[in-house]
Amino acid sequence: MPQASITIFPDEPVGLIRRELYGHFAEHLGACIEDGLWVGPESPISNLGGIRSDVLEALRKLHPPVLRWPGGCYADDYHWEDGIGPPTQRPRRVNLWWGHNVESNGFGTHEFIQTCRLLGAEPCLAGNVGSGSPREMRDWLEYCNFNGDSTLARRRGGNGSPAAFGVRYWGVGNENWGCGGNFCPEDYAAEYKRFATYLRDFGGTKLTLIACGPDGNSADWTERFFNKLGRFPHIGAYAAHYYCGTAGPSATDFNNDQWYELLHRAAAIEKLITDQRALMDRFDPERRIGLVIDEWGTWHLPTPGVTPLWQQNTLRDALVAAISLDAFDRHAEKLLMCNIAQVANVLQAMVLTREERMVLTPTYHVFDLYQTHQGGQGLRTAIEAPPIRFAAGEERRELCGLSGSASIKGGVLTLTVVNPHASLPLDCRIDLRGLQVGGGELAVLTHDDLAAHNTFDEPDMLRPQVTQIDSPGEEFRRSFPAASVTRFLLRLR
Ligand code: AHR
Repeated sequence: MPQASITIFPDEPVGLIRRELYGHFAEHLGACIEDGLWVGPESPISNLGGIRSDVLEALRKLHPPVLRWPGGCYADDYHWEDGIGPPTQRPRRVNLWWGHNVESNGFGTHEFIQTCRLLGAEPCLAGNVGSGSPREMRDWLEYCNFNGDSTLARRRGGNGSPAAFGVRYWGVGNENWGCGGNFCPEDYAAEYKRFATYLRDFGGTKLTLIACGPDGNSADWTERFFNKLGRFPHIGAYAAHYYCGTAGPSATDFNNDQWYELLHRAAAIEKLITDQRALMDRFDPERRIGLVIDEWGTWHLPTPGVTPLWQQNTLRDALVAAISLDAFDRHAEKLLMCNIAQVANVLQAMVLTREERMVLTPTYHVFDLYQTHQGGQGLRTAIEAPPIRFAAGEERRELCGLSGSASIKGGVLTLTVVNPHASLPLDCRIDLRGLQVGGGELAVLTHDDLAAHNTFDEPDMLRPQVTQIDSPGEEFRRSFPAASVTRFLLRLR
Protein backbone atom coordinates (compact mmCIF):
# COMPACT_ATOMS: atom_id res chain seq x y z
CA MET A 1 0.00 0.00 0.00
CA PRO A 2 1.44 3.45 -0.89
CA GLN A 3 2.51 5.62 2.09
CA ALA A 4 1.72 9.24 2.78
CA SER A 5 1.98 11.80 5.56
CA ILE A 6 -0.02 14.76 6.82
CA THR A 7 1.57 17.24 9.24
CA ILE A 8 -0.58 19.88 10.90
CA PHE A 9 1.22 22.92 12.32
CA PRO A 10 -0.92 24.28 15.20
CA ASP A 11 1.40 27.28 15.62
CA GLU A 12 1.14 28.34 11.99
CA PRO A 13 -2.36 29.75 11.37
CA VAL A 14 -3.10 30.53 7.71
CA GLY A 15 -6.01 32.84 8.47
CA LEU A 16 -9.67 32.79 9.29
CA ILE A 17 -11.73 30.53 7.03
CA ARG A 18 -14.49 33.04 6.34
CA ARG A 19 -17.91 31.43 6.37
CA GLU A 20 -18.47 33.00 2.93
CA LEU A 21 -16.02 30.54 1.35
CA TYR A 22 -18.87 28.02 1.61
CA GLY A 23 -21.37 30.11 -0.38
CA HIS A 24 -24.05 29.23 -2.93
CA PHE A 25 -25.54 30.56 -6.13
CA ALA A 26 -29.09 30.44 -7.53
CA GLU A 27 -30.01 31.62 -11.03
CA HIS A 28 -33.20 31.74 -13.07
CA LEU A 29 -31.97 28.85 -15.13
CA GLY A 30 -33.66 25.53 -15.80
CA ALA A 31 -35.19 24.22 -12.59
CA CYS A 32 -32.94 26.01 -10.12
CA ILE A 33 -35.47 28.60 -8.97
CA GLU A 34 -38.75 27.31 -10.47
CA ASP A 35 -39.31 23.82 -8.98
CA GLY A 36 -36.00 23.93 -7.10
CA LEU A 37 -36.24 26.74 -4.57
CA TRP A 38 -39.64 28.05 -5.54
CA VAL A 39 -42.98 26.36 -6.19
CA GLY A 40 -45.24 29.31 -5.38
CA PRO A 41 -47.68 29.65 -2.47
CA GLU A 42 -50.51 27.81 -4.27
CA SER A 43 -48.47 24.65 -4.91
CA PRO A 44 -49.58 21.32 -3.43
CA ILE A 45 -45.88 20.82 -2.62
CA SER A 46 -45.21 21.87 0.97
CA ASN A 47 -43.86 25.44 1.00
CA LEU A 48 -43.33 28.50 3.14
CA GLY A 49 -44.77 31.43 1.21
CA GLY A 50 -43.88 29.66 -2.04
CA ILE A 51 -40.37 28.52 -1.03
CA ARG A 52 -40.06 24.72 -0.99
CA SER A 53 -40.01 23.42 2.60
CA ASP A 54 -37.93 20.30 1.89
CA VAL A 55 -35.23 22.25 0.03
CA LEU A 56 -35.20 24.94 2.72
CA GLU A 57 -34.80 22.36 5.44
CA ALA A 58 -31.99 20.56 3.63
CA LEU A 59 -30.07 23.75 2.79
CA ARG A 60 -30.53 25.22 6.25
CA LYS A 61 -28.59 22.27 7.68
CA LEU A 62 -25.56 23.37 5.65
CA HIS A 63 -25.59 26.81 7.33
CA PRO A 64 -25.18 28.52 3.95
CA PRO A 65 -23.35 31.79 4.59
CA VAL A 66 -24.33 33.52 1.37
CA LEU A 67 -26.68 33.08 -1.58
CA ARG A 68 -26.03 34.89 -4.87
CA TRP A 69 -28.93 35.75 -7.23
CA PRO A 70 -30.48 36.33 -9.87
CA GLY A 71 -27.60 35.21 -12.14
CA GLY A 72 -25.30 34.44 -13.82
CA CYS A 73 -25.93 35.52 -17.35
CA TYR A 74 -29.55 36.16 -16.41
CA ALA A 75 -28.46 39.05 -14.14
CA ASP A 76 -27.46 41.25 -17.09
CA ASP A 77 -30.92 40.90 -18.64
CA TYR A 78 -32.82 41.16 -15.35
CA HIS A 79 -34.77 44.26 -14.46
CA TRP A 80 -35.48 44.26 -10.75
CA GLU A 81 -38.73 46.19 -10.96
CA ASP A 82 -40.23 43.25 -12.87
CA GLY A 83 -39.96 41.20 -9.67
CA ILE A 84 -41.74 43.40 -7.12
CA GLY A 85 -45.39 44.21 -6.40
CA PRO A 86 -48.46 41.96 -6.63
CA PRO A 87 -47.35 38.70 -8.31
CA THR A 88 -50.29 38.63 -10.73
CA GLN A 89 -49.28 42.04 -12.07
CA ARG A 90 -45.62 41.20 -12.62
CA PRO A 91 -44.57 41.03 -16.29
CA ARG A 92 -43.74 37.73 -17.92
CA ARG A 93 -40.36 37.91 -19.63
CA VAL A 94 -38.44 35.64 -21.97
CA ASN A 95 -35.27 34.24 -20.43
CA LEU A 96 -32.78 35.00 -23.21
CA TRP A 97 -30.04 32.77 -21.98
CA TRP A 98 -31.53 29.56 -20.78
CA GLY A 99 -33.97 27.99 -23.22
CA HIS A 100 -36.17 31.02 -23.93
CA ASN A 101 -38.65 29.92 -21.30
CA VAL A 102 -40.98 32.55 -19.91
CA GLU A 103 -40.15 33.81 -16.42
CA SER A 104 -43.20 34.65 -14.30
CA ASN A 105 -41.17 36.91 -11.98
CA GLY A 106 -43.05 35.30 -9.09
CA PHE A 107 -39.69 34.96 -7.36
CA GLY A 108 -38.36 38.49 -7.10
CA THR A 109 -36.39 40.59 -4.63
CA HIS A 110 -38.71 40.10 -1.63
CA GLU A 111 -38.97 36.36 -2.19
CA PHE A 112 -35.19 36.10 -2.54
CA ILE A 113 -34.56 38.08 0.66
CA GLN A 114 -37.11 35.91 2.48
CA THR A 115 -35.29 32.78 1.22
CA CYS A 116 -32.00 34.15 2.53
CA ARG A 117 -33.54 34.96 5.91
CA LEU A 118 -35.02 31.48 6.22
CA LEU A 119 -31.65 30.00 5.31
CA GLY A 120 -29.67 32.34 7.54
CA ALA A 121 -27.64 33.37 4.46
CA GLU A 122 -26.37 36.83 3.47
CA PRO A 123 -27.90 37.91 0.15
CA CYS A 124 -25.58 38.75 -2.73
CA LEU A 125 -27.30 40.59 -5.59
CA ALA A 126 -25.81 40.64 -9.07
CA GLY A 127 -26.69 43.90 -10.80
CA ASN A 128 -27.39 44.48 -14.46
CA VAL A 129 -24.54 46.20 -16.30
CA GLY A 130 -25.00 44.59 -19.75
CA SER A 131 -28.52 45.82 -20.54
CA GLY A 132 -29.21 48.03 -17.51
CA SER A 133 -28.13 51.48 -16.41
CA PRO A 134 -26.34 52.97 -13.39
CA ARG A 135 -29.65 54.54 -12.42
CA GLU A 136 -31.49 51.22 -12.46
CA MET A 137 -28.90 49.61 -10.23
CA ARG A 138 -28.62 52.51 -7.77
CA ASP A 139 -32.42 52.51 -7.49
CA TRP A 140 -32.41 48.79 -6.68
CA LEU A 141 -29.86 49.52 -3.98
CA GLU A 142 -31.93 52.36 -2.54
CA TYR A 143 -35.06 50.20 -2.68
CA CYS A 144 -33.28 47.45 -0.73
CA ASN A 145 -31.17 49.41 1.72
CA PHE A 146 -32.53 52.89 2.41
CA ASN A 147 -34.23 53.21 5.79
CA GLY A 148 -35.47 56.80 5.42
CA ASP A 149 -38.57 58.24 3.81
CA SER A 150 -37.87 58.09 0.07
CA THR A 151 -40.31 57.06 -2.61
CA LEU A 152 -38.39 53.84 -3.25
CA ALA A 153 -38.21 52.98 0.47
CA ARG A 154 -41.96 53.62 0.75
CA ARG A 155 -42.51 51.36 -2.22
CA ARG A 156 -40.58 48.59 -0.47
CA GLY A 157 -42.74 49.14 2.63
CA GLY A 158 -45.88 49.01 0.50
CA ASN A 159 -44.68 45.67 -0.81
CA GLY A 160 -44.55 44.29 2.71
CA SER A 161 -41.04 45.13 3.96
CA PRO A 162 -40.87 48.45 5.84
CA ALA A 163 -37.43 47.59 7.26
CA ALA A 164 -34.50 47.86 4.87
CA PHE A 165 -33.02 44.59 3.63
CA GLY A 166 -29.44 45.66 4.37
CA VAL A 167 -27.86 43.89 1.40
CA ARG A 168 -24.09 44.12 1.69
CA TYR A 169 -22.81 42.25 -1.37
CA TRP A 170 -23.51 43.71 -4.83
CA GLY A 171 -22.05 42.29 -8.02
CA VAL A 172 -21.51 44.99 -10.66
CA GLY A 173 -22.48 42.77 -13.59
CA ASN A 174 -21.59 39.16 -14.31
CA GLU A 175 -19.17 37.71 -16.87
CA ASN A 176 -18.98 41.08 -18.60
CA TRP A 177 -16.35 39.63 -20.92
CA GLY A 178 -19.18 37.46 -22.34
CA CYS A 179 -22.90 37.30 -21.63
CA GLY A 180 -22.69 40.49 -19.52
CA GLY A 181 -22.10 42.75 -22.52
CA ASN A 182 -19.01 41.40 -24.31
CA PHE A 183 -16.76 44.12 -22.96
CA CYS A 184 -13.00 44.26 -23.23
CA PRO A 185 -11.34 44.74 -19.81
CA GLU A 186 -10.73 48.46 -20.37
CA ASP A 187 -14.33 49.16 -21.40
CA TYR A 188 -15.67 47.12 -18.48
CA ALA A 189 -13.39 48.99 -16.05
CA ALA A 190 -14.80 52.27 -17.37
CA GLU A 191 -18.37 50.94 -16.99
CA TYR A 192 -17.54 49.62 -13.55
CA LYS A 193 -16.44 53.10 -12.44
CA ARG A 194 -19.56 54.69 -13.92
CA PHE A 195 -21.88 52.27 -12.09
CA ALA A 196 -19.95 52.16 -8.81
CA THR A 197 -19.89 55.96 -8.53
CA TYR A 198 -23.63 55.89 -7.82
CA LEU A 199 -23.77 52.76 -5.66
CA ARG A 200 -23.81 54.14 -2.11
CA ASP A 201 -24.53 52.76 1.32
CA PHE A 202 -27.58 55.05 1.65
CA GLY A 203 -26.71 55.68 5.27
CA GLY A 204 -27.08 52.04 6.21
CA THR A 205 -25.27 48.84 5.37
CA LYS A 206 -21.63 49.19 4.33
CA LEU A 207 -21.37 47.77 0.82
CA THR A 208 -18.96 45.33 -0.74
CA LEU A 209 -19.07 46.02 -4.48
CA ILE A 210 -17.85 43.06 -6.53
CA ALA A 211 -16.27 43.70 -9.93
CA CYS A 212 -16.30 41.09 -12.67
CA GLY A 213 -13.02 39.19 -12.88
CA PRO A 214 -11.70 36.68 -15.40
CA ASP A 215 -13.03 33.54 -16.98
CA GLY A 216 -10.75 31.04 -15.26
CA ASN A 217 -7.19 32.07 -14.51
CA SER A 218 -6.71 34.78 -17.14
CA ALA A 219 -3.90 37.21 -16.28
CA ASP A 220 -4.78 39.38 -19.26
CA TRP A 221 -8.26 40.39 -18.02
CA THR A 222 -7.00 41.05 -14.49
CA GLU A 223 -3.98 43.16 -15.51
CA ARG A 224 -5.90 45.20 -18.03
CA PHE A 225 -8.90 45.71 -15.72
CA PHE A 226 -6.78 46.95 -12.79
CA ASN A 227 -4.56 49.07 -15.02
CA LYS A 228 -7.60 50.89 -16.31
CA LEU A 229 -9.31 51.03 -12.90
CA GLY A 230 -6.33 52.96 -11.52
CA ARG A 231 -6.82 54.28 -8.00
CA PHE A 232 -10.61 54.23 -8.12
CA PRO A 233 -11.58 53.47 -4.51
CA HIS A 234 -15.13 52.09 -4.74
CA ILE A 235 -14.35 48.42 -5.16
CA GLY A 236 -14.52 45.80 -2.44
CA ALA A 237 -13.99 42.58 -4.33
CA TYR A 238 -13.06 41.06 -7.66
CA ALA A 239 -14.68 37.83 -8.84
CA ALA A 240 -13.27 35.06 -11.02
CA HIS A 241 -15.35 32.15 -12.32
CA TYR A 242 -13.87 28.68 -12.48
CA TYR A 243 -15.69 25.71 -13.97
CA CYS A 244 -13.51 22.60 -14.07
CA GLY A 245 -15.86 21.22 -16.73
CA THR A 246 -16.07 17.51 -17.36
CA ALA A 247 -14.15 14.51 -18.67
CA GLY A 248 -15.82 11.55 -20.34
CA PRO A 249 -19.13 11.09 -22.13
CA SER A 250 -21.40 12.07 -19.22
CA ALA A 251 -21.67 12.84 -15.52
CA THR A 252 -22.13 9.14 -14.77
CA ASP A 253 -20.08 7.56 -17.57
CA PHE A 254 -16.29 7.91 -17.38
CA ASN A 255 -13.20 5.73 -17.15
CA ASN A 256 -10.43 5.93 -14.56
CA ASP A 257 -8.33 8.34 -16.62
CA GLN A 258 -11.35 10.61 -16.99
CA TRP A 259 -11.94 10.39 -13.24
CA TYR A 260 -8.39 11.64 -12.67
CA GLU A 261 -8.58 14.21 -15.43
CA LEU A 262 -11.55 15.94 -13.83
CA LEU A 263 -10.04 15.84 -10.33
CA HIS A 264 -6.81 17.26 -11.77
CA ARG A 265 -8.75 20.14 -13.32
CA ALA A 266 -10.57 20.73 -10.05
CA ALA A 267 -7.24 20.91 -8.21
CA ALA A 268 -6.12 23.68 -10.60
CA ILE A 269 -8.38 26.08 -8.70
CA GLU A 270 -5.49 26.39 -6.23
CA LYS A 271 -3.29 27.91 -8.94
CA LEU A 272 -6.06 30.33 -9.87
CA ILE A 273 -6.25 31.51 -6.24
CA THR A 274 -2.50 32.03 -5.89
CA ASP A 275 -2.00 33.53 -9.38
CA GLN A 276 -4.95 35.91 -9.23
CA ARG A 277 -4.14 37.04 -5.69
CA ALA A 278 -0.51 37.66 -6.70
CA LEU A 279 -1.66 39.73 -9.69
CA MET A 280 -4.09 41.69 -7.52
CA ASP A 281 -1.35 42.28 -4.94
CA ARG A 282 0.58 44.28 -7.54
CA PHE A 283 -2.28 46.78 -7.74
CA ASP A 284 -3.62 46.33 -4.20
CA PRO A 285 -0.69 45.40 -1.91
CA GLU A 286 -2.74 46.08 1.23
CA ARG A 287 -5.40 43.62 0.09
CA ARG A 288 -8.32 46.00 0.47
CA ILE A 289 -9.94 44.25 -2.50
CA GLY A 290 -11.04 40.69 -1.76
CA LEU A 291 -10.72 37.82 -4.22
CA VAL A 292 -14.03 36.05 -4.87
CA ILE A 293 -14.72 32.87 -6.82
CA ASP A 294 -18.29 33.71 -7.71
CA GLU A 295 -19.09 30.51 -9.61
CA TRP A 296 -17.26 27.20 -9.50
CA GLY A 297 -17.91 23.51 -10.01
CA THR A 298 -18.32 20.77 -12.58
CA TRP A 299 -20.11 21.25 -15.89
CA HIS A 300 -20.93 17.93 -17.56
CA LEU A 301 -22.19 17.36 -21.09
CA PRO A 302 -25.95 17.96 -21.47
CA THR A 303 -28.30 15.21 -20.31
CA PRO A 304 -31.01 14.63 -22.94
CA GLY A 305 -34.63 15.25 -22.00
CA VAL A 306 -34.10 17.32 -18.87
CA THR A 307 -34.16 21.02 -17.97
CA PRO A 308 -31.15 23.17 -19.00
CA LEU A 309 -27.86 22.40 -17.22
CA TRP A 310 -29.43 19.64 -15.11
CA GLN A 311 -26.79 17.03 -14.37
CA GLN A 312 -26.33 13.99 -12.15
CA ASN A 313 -23.88 14.26 -9.32
CA THR A 314 -21.64 11.30 -8.49
CA LEU A 315 -18.83 10.38 -6.14
CA ARG A 316 -16.56 12.12 -8.67
CA ASP A 317 -18.40 15.43 -8.13
CA ALA A 318 -18.11 14.91 -4.38
CA LEU A 319 -14.33 14.67 -4.69
CA VAL A 320 -14.26 17.77 -6.91
CA ALA A 321 -16.13 19.66 -4.18
CA ALA A 322 -13.84 18.37 -1.42
CA ILE A 323 -10.63 19.13 -3.35
CA SER A 324 -11.90 22.66 -4.06
CA LEU A 325 -13.06 23.39 -0.50
CA ASP A 326 -9.73 22.12 0.87
CA ALA A 327 -7.93 24.53 -1.48
CA PHE A 328 -10.12 27.41 -0.23
CA ASP A 329 -9.32 26.52 3.39
CA ARG A 330 -5.58 26.28 2.73
CA HIS A 331 -5.65 29.74 1.09
CA ALA A 332 -8.27 31.26 3.35
CA GLU A 333 -6.31 34.49 3.83
CA LYS A 334 -6.47 35.18 0.08
CA LEU A 335 -10.24 34.72 -0.35
CA LEU A 336 -13.36 36.71 0.52
CA MET A 337 -16.15 34.53 -0.86
CA CYS A 338 -16.69 31.42 -3.03
CA ASN A 339 -20.07 30.33 -4.44
CA ILE A 340 -20.64 26.91 -5.95
CA ALA A 341 -22.91 26.72 -9.03
CA GLN A 342 -25.75 26.09 -8.34
CA VAL A 343 -27.96 25.34 -5.40
CA ALA A 344 -30.68 23.12 -6.95
CA ASN A 345 -31.14 21.15 -10.20
CA VAL A 346 -28.42 23.03 -12.10
CA LEU A 347 -24.74 22.07 -12.58
CA GLN A 348 -23.07 20.83 -9.37
CA ALA A 349 -26.23 21.06 -7.29
CA MET A 350 -26.80 20.44 -3.59
CA VAL A 351 -30.25 18.96 -4.19
CA LEU A 352 -32.22 17.52 -7.09
CA THR A 353 -36.00 17.78 -7.09
CA ARG A 354 -38.73 16.12 -9.13
CA GLU A 355 -42.30 17.14 -8.36
CA GLU A 356 -42.73 16.52 -4.61
CA ARG A 357 -39.52 14.52 -4.24
CA MET A 358 -36.04 15.73 -3.36
CA VAL A 359 -32.69 13.98 -3.15
CA LEU A 360 -29.43 15.12 -1.54
CA THR A 361 -26.43 14.88 -3.85
CA PRO A 362 -22.94 13.62 -2.93
CA THR A 363 -21.79 17.25 -3.19
CA TYR A 364 -24.37 18.15 -0.53
CA HIS A 365 -22.80 15.59 1.80
CA VAL A 366 -19.35 17.12 1.27
CA PHE A 367 -20.67 20.60 2.12
CA ASP A 368 -22.32 19.08 5.17
CA LEU A 369 -19.10 17.42 6.35
CA TYR A 370 -16.90 20.44 5.58
CA GLN A 371 -19.14 23.01 7.27
CA THR A 372 -17.21 22.61 10.54
CA HIS A 373 -14.36 24.50 8.80
CA GLN A 374 -16.66 27.55 8.39
CA GLY A 375 -15.40 30.35 10.62
CA GLY A 376 -12.48 28.22 11.82
CA GLN A 377 -8.83 29.19 12.11
CA GLY A 378 -7.06 27.52 9.19
CA LEU A 379 -3.78 25.79 10.06
CA ARG A 380 -0.84 25.17 7.78
CA THR A 381 -0.98 21.54 6.72
CA ALA A 382 1.83 19.78 4.82
CA ILE A 383 0.81 16.73 2.82
CA GLU A 384 3.12 14.25 1.12
CA ALA A 385 1.92 11.40 -1.04
CA PRO A 386 3.04 9.60 -4.18
CA PRO A 387 1.54 11.34 -7.24
CA ILE A 388 -0.97 9.52 -9.41
CA ARG A 389 -0.03 9.32 -13.10
CA PHE A 390 -2.76 9.24 -15.72
CA ALA A 391 -3.43 9.91 -19.41
CA ALA A 392 -5.41 12.90 -20.63
CA GLY A 393 -5.75 12.23 -24.35
CA GLU A 394 -2.18 12.00 -25.67
CA GLU A 395 -0.68 13.66 -22.61
CA ARG A 396 0.64 12.08 -19.40
CA ARG A 397 -0.24 14.05 -16.27
CA GLU A 398 0.17 13.81 -12.50
CA LEU A 399 -2.38 14.37 -9.78
CA CYS A 400 -1.46 14.92 -6.12
CA GLY A 401 -1.96 11.60 -4.32
CA LEU A 402 -3.72 13.21 -1.33
CA SER A 403 -5.19 16.58 -0.40
CA GLY A 404 -6.79 18.10 2.65
CA SER A 405 -7.07 20.98 5.09
CA ALA A 406 -7.24 21.57 8.84
CA SER A 407 -8.84 24.16 11.09
CA ILE A 408 -9.70 24.78 14.71
CA LYS A 409 -12.96 26.21 15.98
CA GLY A 410 -14.67 26.08 19.35
CA GLY A 411 -12.19 23.64 20.85
CA VAL A 412 -12.48 21.19 17.95
CA LEU A 413 -9.95 20.27 15.27
CA THR A 414 -11.44 19.55 11.84
CA LEU A 415 -9.21 17.65 9.43
CA THR A 416 -10.57 16.83 5.99
CA VAL A 417 -8.75 14.51 3.60
CA VAL A 418 -9.33 13.33 0.01
CA ASN A 419 -7.80 10.15 -1.38
CA PRO A 420 -8.35 10.54 -5.14
CA HIS A 421 -6.93 7.12 -6.08
CA ALA A 422 -9.55 5.23 -8.07
CA SER A 423 -8.70 1.82 -6.63
CA LEU A 424 -6.04 1.94 -3.88
CA PRO A 425 -6.36 2.85 -0.23
CA LEU A 426 -3.62 5.09 1.10
CA ASP A 427 -1.83 4.45 4.36
CA CYS A 428 -1.01 7.76 6.03
CA ARG A 429 0.90 8.99 9.08
CA ILE A 430 -0.78 11.99 10.68
CA ASP A 431 1.35 14.22 12.90
CA LEU A 432 -0.46 16.87 14.96
CA ARG A 433 2.84 18.41 16.11
CA GLY A 434 2.07 18.30 19.79
CA LEU A 435 -1.59 19.25 19.56
CA GLN A 436 -3.39 17.36 22.33
CA VAL A 437 -6.67 15.88 21.13
CA GLY A 438 -9.27 13.68 22.73
CA GLY A 439 -11.74 11.47 20.94
CA GLY A 440 -14.28 12.57 18.41
CA GLU A 441 -15.95 11.57 15.21
CA LEU A 442 -14.82 10.10 11.92
CA ALA A 443 -16.97 10.42 8.79
CA VAL A 444 -16.13 8.77 5.46
CA LEU A 445 -17.85 9.23 2.11
CA THR A 446 -16.91 6.58 -0.43
CA HIS A 447 -18.26 3.81 -2.65
CA ASP A 448 -16.88 0.91 -4.70
CA ASP A 449 -18.51 2.38 -7.80
CA LEU A 450 -16.82 5.64 -8.85
CA ALA A 451 -20.03 6.72 -10.58
CA ALA A 452 -22.25 6.02 -7.56
CA HIS A 453 -24.96 8.62 -7.13
CA ASN A 454 -28.25 9.17 -5.37
CA THR A 455 -31.56 8.85 -7.19
CA PHE A 456 -35.17 9.44 -6.17
CA ASP A 457 -35.55 5.66 -5.82
CA GLU A 458 -32.20 5.13 -4.07
CA PRO A 459 -31.57 8.42 -2.25
CA ASP A 460 -28.98 7.00 0.16
CA MET A 461 -26.68 5.16 -2.23
CA LEU A 462 -23.98 7.58 -1.20
CA ARG A 463 -23.92 9.08 2.27
CA PRO A 464 -21.17 9.48 4.87
CA GLN A 465 -20.56 6.67 7.32
CA VAL A 466 -20.00 8.17 10.76
CA THR A 467 -18.26 6.47 13.70
CA GLN A 468 -17.07 7.65 17.12
CA ILE A 469 -13.34 7.36 17.76
CA ASP A 470 -11.11 7.42 20.83
CA SER A 471 -8.21 9.81 21.09
CA PRO A 472 -5.82 8.87 18.28
CA GLY A 473 -2.87 10.61 20.05
CA GLU A 474 -0.58 13.31 18.67
CA GLU A 475 0.73 11.05 15.97
CA PHE A 476 -1.25 8.23 14.40
CA ARG A 477 -1.82 6.21 11.25
CA ARG A 478 -4.93 5.95 9.16
CA SER A 479 -5.76 4.16 5.94
CA PHE A 480 -7.89 6.29 3.64
CA PRO A 481 -10.12 4.18 1.37
CA ALA A 482 -9.80 4.56 -2.40
CA ALA A 483 -11.93 7.37 -3.86
CA SER A 484 -12.91 8.80 -0.51
CA VAL A 485 -13.53 11.97 1.45
CA THR A 486 -12.81 11.75 5.19
CA ARG A 487 -13.50 14.20 7.98
CA PHE A 488 -12.06 13.97 11.48
CA LEU A 489 -13.61 16.02 14.27
CA LEU A 490 -11.33 15.82 17.31
CA ARG A 491 -11.91 17.60 20.61
CA LEU A 492 -8.92 19.61 21.81
CA ARG A 493 -7.66 18.76 25.28
O1 AHR B 1 -23.94 28.95 -13.93
C1 AHR B 1 -24.31 28.92 -15.27
C2 AHR B 1 -23.73 30.08 -16.07
O2 AHR B 1 -22.34 29.92 -16.09
C3 AHR B 1 -23.92 31.44 -15.52
O3 AHR B 1 -25.14 32.00 -15.90
C4 AHR B 1 -22.79 32.22 -16.09
O4 AHR B 1 -22.36 33.26 -15.25
C5 AHR B 1 -21.71 31.17 -16.31
O5 AHR B 1 -21.23 31.17 -17.60
